Amino acid sequence: MNDAIVLYCSLGGNTEEVAALIKEALSDRCRVHMHHVSEAPKNLPYEDSLLFLGAYTWGDGKLPAEMRKTLRRLYKEEGISPSDVACFGTGDKMFPLYCRAVDEMEHHTVRHGLTVIGPSLKIEQSPRNKKEEVRAWAETVHDIARHHQPIL
Ligand SMILES: Cc1cc2nc3c(=O)[nH]c(=O)nc-3n(C[C@H](O)[C@H](O)[C@H](O)COP(=O)(O)O)c2cc1C
Repeated sequence: MNDAIVLYCSLGGNTEEVAALIKEALSDRCRVHMHHVSEAPKNLPYEDSLLFLGAYTWGDGKLPAEMRKTLRRLYKEEGISPSDVACFGTGDKMFPLYCRAVDEMEHHTVRHGLTVIGPSLKIEQSPRNKKEEVRAWAETVHDIARHHQPIL
């Protein structure tokens, strides 16, 4: 496993804050590329990297279209092969389908034959009071990815 790549979508900034905390947690361990999905450069080093995917949930439990389109491009058209994938998101428990976008990203990832390191991280609204939780999760995911030996 080489670099970590954090791709996220965020309207109000909550999911972006989680992405930034993940970057901060891992930046003394490896190179971290963090981008909004619509601004991610084409030449990111996906091969053999640990890919973090982050999204808010909107509508009736929906994954934002920009993340859905990005996953279609990366998984179906480009057929990228990161070493592992980890999913995170923010939502609001007042909605019946809490953080459902995270479950959908997991689903697409597994369907394309990639490994998701779980459990995924779901944060209610802002991570401001959950900095330690986010840091610990990111470090655990990175530890697992580092020791992950794929079965041939
Ligand atoms: C119109 C609307 C619909 C939403 N629907 C859901 C939902 O179905 N499930 C959920 O967990 N959160 C839902 N949320 C809450 C957002 O996902 C939550 O506020 C999130 O932190 C926003 O992330 P952002 O600041 O990165 O844009 C909804 C928010 C809005 C405004």
